[in-house]
Amino acid sequence: MRRSLRDLDVARKRVLVRADLNVPIDAYGAIGDDSRLRALLPTLAYLREARAITLLCSHLGRPEGRRDMRFTLAPVARRLSELALCPVLFVGDCAGEEPRIASARAQPGDVLLLENVRFYAEEEKNDPAFAADLARLADVFVNDAFGTAHRAHASTVGVAAHIPAAAGLLMEREIAALSSVLHDPARPLVGIVGGAKISTKIDIVRNLIGVVDTLCIGGAMALTLIAARGGRIGRSLVEPAAYEVAREILAEAGSRLALPTDAVAALSIDAAETRIVSAAEVPDDFAGFDVGPATVEAWSPAIASARTIVWNGPLGAYERPPYAAGTRAVAKRVAASSAQSIVGGGDLVAALESAGLADRMTHVSTGGGASLEFLEGKALPGIAALEV
Ligand code: 3PG
Repeated sequence: MRRSLRDLDVARKRVLVRADLNVPIDAYGAIGDDSRLRALLPTLAYLREARAITLLCSHLGRPEGRRDMRFTLAPVARRLSELALCPVLFVGDCAGEEPRIASARAQPGDVLLLENVRFYAEEEKNDPAFAADLARLADVFVNDAFGTAHRAHASTVGVAAHIPAAAGLLMEREIAALSSVLHDPARPLVGIVGGAKISTKIDIVRNLIGVVDTLCIGGAMALTLIAARGGRIGRSLVEPAAYEVAREILAEAGSRLALPTDAVAALSIDAAETRIVSAAEVPDDFAGFDVGPATVEAWSPAIASARTIVWNGPLGAYERPPYAAGTRAVAKRVAASSAQSIVGGGDLVAALESAGLADRMTHVSTGGGASLEFLEGKALPGIAALEV
């Protein structure tokens, strides 16, 4: 059983909230995509309304256990305060005297943000003393950091051993959306998986094969599957070392697998001229960089009649304009279908954002690695630690 924030009496209590505030910040402190901050707002509003004292903590980037101010969370406190329409007091450390004093002085309804937990090497080592120190700042622990739930760190796992722990509202939304795909989805269930390398997607493909009605695979990883069954893929990026596992996947998936029928190919990714070719007959000097229009048409009936769609990974080299069309065209079909659409993965979400289609999906996960591991069927340590 897992406790929810709603099960806790948080009035006038000190609540340590682990959030994933790991957002892109440029050298001037300007925040790029702030969707992870916006996703935290329901939990923040709930705690303020309940008159709790909210102590937020998070990592930002990978400072490797050093106090490297390129990774300070100070700009995040400012942006969060604008978004939440309340002051977010920044505390310049997450361990030692400074957070202890700040926590003791805080009043019900206050929101504090502690400095980057990864300024301490103890965080990633899940050091018990460091976790106990964090826990001493608060009465209860709420984990809302779905994006970091695949990391067994002091602030995601260790702290839960010391004070009552519960899932935050974002964590609950994420778990509900992703679980609905794996357990008892509304059918037909269509999976769409893309990405460059099949070696990084073997586990998600294998797990989804067990539950989907149709699995559409795009991206360069699809060309490895096509090559493994004897197709001509020219100079496309493929992984010959994965041919054997690719053949196993082809056999397991059988007729449920929908591979690209055509590809957008060119002599090189920078070449001005592109050509639509058969995905199993890419000319020798050419490489495929996106799924072609016939593939989109071939996949459309399954997408249109789906009641659940789960999608991880872009279908082409979307960061280059000539190769963004496949992902965009499939996203439009997904948006137009009446299915529950659950999407995850940093690259896919970036592709959908740049196409202006992210908000047409039912659920856009805030987790990159975390949503991938969830859909691989793995237990995420940050979620497991909330079991009572
Ligand atoms: C992410 O951006 O995927 C999470 O914040 C986890 O970050 P990490 O890969 O540095 O642990």
